Amino acid sequence: MRQAYFNLVRKVNYGMFEAISAKVLEHFRNPRNVGVLEDANGHGRVENPVCGDITDMYLKIVDGRIVDVKFTSLGCFATIASASALTEVVKGKTLKELLNFEEGAEALIERFMEMIRHELGNLPKAKWHCPPASIESFLRALIEYFKNIGGEEDVVRNLEEAIKVLKPYYGMGSK
Ligand code: FES
Repeated sequence: MRQAYFNLVRKVNYGMFEAISAKVLEHFRNPRNVGVLEDANGHGRVENPVCGDITDMYLKIVDGRIVDVKFTSLGCFATIASASALTEVVKGKTLKELLNFEEGAEALIERFMEMIRHELGNLPKAKWHCPPASIESFLRALIEYFKNIGGEEDVVRNLEEAIKVLKPYYGMGSK
């Protein structure tokens, strides 16, 4: 990862990328919550449909609260930064705080995208297909959790619907 960081900084210095915020660089250089959570009760894996890079998200949920979260990713700096930012935002929050389905799946996804935009700031346009993989792996981990505890079919359906709504966001970089 160290060499990739120096390559990235060199490209930024030579103006080969559009503006990348200091927050993105900071999350990439020092990603939070990296690793595998051995006692996770929710796991989600996503292969980014644009580039094929894989992200795994692990959740430990106790009494309706995300008490721990970790991720691993074979993705680029934008995916690592966005997954790091997402894990920071959701860690310690209750599922009730994070999952309001009343306004529909579109509003839910837009809230998660806004969280990442807020946390990261500027990303090159061509890299906006990367953050949705962090969100989708998180939603898939929640689906696994709710399926395991059982009796939450409506919540599972809502989360599956949210993942469908998320799909076009992978195309954002090519617009
Ligand atoms: S995750 Fe594949 S290019 Fe960003």
